[in-house]
Amino acid sequence: MSMQQQIATEVIAIDTLATDIKQFTLKSLNGALPPFDSGSHIVVQLTLAERQCANAYSLVNDAAEGVFRIAVKYDACSRGGSRHLHEAVEVGDRLAVSPPANLFRLADTTGRHVFIAGGIGITPFIAHLQALEQQGGRYTLHYAFRGADSAAFGAMLEPRRRDGLAELYDTATGSRPDLAAIVAGLAPDDHLYVCGPGSLIDAVTAAAVGRIAPERLHVERFSAQPLDDGAAFTVNLARSGTSIEVGADESILAAIERQTDIAVDCLCREGYCGTCETALLAGEALHRDQYLDEADRAAHKTIMICVSRAKSRTLTLGL
Ligand code: FES
Repeated sequence: MSMQQQIATEVIAIDTLATDIKQFTLKSLNGALPPFDSGSHIVVQLTLAERQCANAYSLVNDAAEGVFRIAVKYDACSRGGSRHLHEAVEVGDRLAVSPPANLFRLADTTGRHVFIAGGIGITPFIAHLQALEQQGGRYTLHYAFRGADSAAFGAMLEPRRRDGLAELYDTATGSRPDLAAIVAGLAPDDHLYVCGPGSLIDAVTAAAVGRIAPERLHVERFSAQPLDDGAAFTVNLARSGTSIEVGADESILAAIERQTDIAVDCLCREGYCGTCETALLAGEALHRDQYLDEADRAAHKTIMICVSRAKSRTLTLGL
């Protein structure tokens, strides 16, 4: 996403979906919103007291509604974005957002789509199941949450539960999806999707490895690791001949956006899509993404600037 591509929107509704989850409905201030399909997300730009913040959120609605709708979980430990949305943003406020991008599309299959969601990881599946119901596609949703008060979209999902399309698991009562059984029950043309905390993604991946082909497993991570795991450092931007300071709790990407007008393509801002891959010309990177493999990292040639940081005091990048 480049800074030139922002869409100006207005918040037209805020609804409480669960004790710590609010839904924000955004309309365009400049004509129709661009089309999007299920699995898409937008990046919301927020100006906090001391810095800019950009967070990705899945769209939970059908594009035909003509609005963007996102569900945001309050996170007291966040870098500020979710807390700001929950505590400071009101109906009538304006928000700049990116055009929709889709890194979590439905697979092209006549088989069943089997969704496993943990907590706020339910959001992309809310759009997917609506799309499949319109298309006549088949799905099963497994949705785990901690405590009935934290379950978003419960009223919407209840009729699907009664129809055998959705299984709900309140982990506070000890209820959990049987991942091995879910994987064992997949037909050859079924696809498996997971979105939620890293522990759930790791468990589903472990259950699926060696049992289904990798292309039938689809993963969406909705949060990167916290960034406040190091000291501030300097990044030299070789092509533009400038230097920037990257704060201890800030990404290189956010620092570039804050201090320069350089446009960097970035879809996920979470370290897994690969679009922000940038040439590393000097310095030692602290890789924190899920995109580069071990050989890429050992080559010291590129860095994913949305999440990765520096081990050395300075880095030089090909920007
Ligand atoms: S924007 Fe996706 S990996 Fe950086």
